[in-house]
Amino acid sequence: MIVIFGSINMDLVARVQRIARPGETVLSRRAESFFGGKGANQAVAAARVGRGGPIRVAMVAAVGDDPFGKACLDNLSRNGVDTGTIRTIEEPTGCAFITVDETGENAITVASGANMAVRAADLPDSLLSGASVVVLQMEVPLAENLEVAARARRAGVKVVWNFAPVPQVSGREAMAELLSATDVLVVNEHEALSIAEIIGDAAGDDYLAAGAALARSFGPACIVTAGSRGAFAIAPDGTQAHAAARPITPVDTTGAGDTFVGVLANGLAEGLEIGAAMGRACAAASMSCLTPGAQAGMPDRDALERYIA
Ligand code: RIB
Ligand code: NA
Repeated sequence: MIVIFGSINMDLVARVQRIARPGETVLSRRAESFFGGKGANQAVAAARVGRGGPIRVAMVAAVGDDPFGKACLDNLSRNGVDTGTIRTIEEPTGCAFITVDETGENAITVASGANMAVRAADLPDSLLSGASVVVLQMEVPLAENLEVAARARRAGVKVVWNFAPVPQVSGREAMAELLSATDVLVVNEHEALSIAEIIGDAAGDDYLAAGAALARSFGPACIVTAGSRGAFAIAPDGTQAHAAARPITPVDTTGAGDTFVGVLANGLAEGLEIGAAMGRACAAASMSCLTPGAQAGMPDRDALERYIA
């Protein structure tokens, strides 16, 4: 089983010619709502690709007692995610304000709401002990993530941690504590560079050097996702693996990273090597960019296998 500990949002999306600069107003035809939140996106990606197989997905999270919260829970259940450990509370459901430009690039502001009430104590030991992989992101309180990571490691459960968005911790030691609690770190190229800078290993614009420094100094396998250039895994001893992305014309890249993480977690839980798991994750992430919204383009197992073949 995979336990996803993290965020659930409703995404409010406006398509724009170009993303507004500070102080500027741009117009968009209409807003649309999509299911989102990095945690929920990763849970749906893992559940869809794993459906019919042996790897179940449970999510630990919180939503508000409001229409968004109810819709988000229904959506997770429909996708086969176990929602028994999601609390409904007196805070608004998380909401993300997203603008997507003509090239499929986005800018996102998250109003966290209920996500900030997620607690490590919401994850029962009975659930953790049945898991082989725990997946974390950075949209719930950092201290709670860290506690879940520590508990997972003590229980021999693999920690896949997506440092998105990059935690605003000050200094090498605080970042080192997070990295040392991680088995598989997943970051995009910008995140890799910012983390390297925070730990004092600034790598210019060389995201592979940044990833290698993180893996070497703190021990996690570091996966850097690099958009159309695919993904690179760097082991602590410097060994590298690469998986290619598919050549596509993206419609909406929102959630591509989450698709990668969810499908990667499924592969690792199935016992694949990191390189093979990354290959599937890259293909799924490419597919997800072809449909508007974070989750709609995520493939099930059959669609993914047809796409890869
Ligand atoms: O990674 C994409 C997600 O980030 C969106 O779905 C949005 O909710 C934000 O959390
Ligand atoms: Na998409």
